[in-house]
Amino acid sequence: MAILKIVKKGTDEEFLRKKSRPVEQITPRIKTLLDDMIQTMRHANGCGLAAVQVGVLRRVVVIETPEGLFELINPRIIATAGTQESEEGCLSVPNEWGITRRPMYVTARALNRDGEEYEIKAQGLLAKAICHELDHLDGILYTDKVIKKIED
Ligand code: NI
Repeated sequence: MAILKIVKKGTDEEFLRKKSRPVEQITPRIKTLLDDMIQTMRHANGCGLAAVQVGVLRRVVVIETPEGLFELINPRIIATAGTQESEEGCLSVPNEWGITRRPMYVTARALNRDGEEYEIKAQGLLAKAICHELDHLDGILYTDKVIKKIED
């Protein structure tokens, strides 16, 4: 396992704006990527990380919240409900936070590392994290969606 360098908005915004491609086959390389992303996310005290943030344009995401650790390959949101306005930050945008409006409830489907499709029914923080990380796969940053900046 390895701690990977996180791509930052300040120096590499152009890269973060790229669209990630689906994973066609879950190779050992993808499993190593997942392991490294988990270690990198934990090392940086984050609750989510998308592969683009470590320089890989593939639709791979890891999320860790009190509900547990989730590995999402080719994830998609299939339903949302409600809204929440809450604080959000990003490991690629250090030392900044803002209030965003996100769905309160999200149902998502993804493949796990064994290539099996599974469903997550999320609310609150986990729903917000899924929206945030899936946005990364399409080059969208939470800063695009901030409705109120938080000053220090
Ligand atoms: Ni982020």
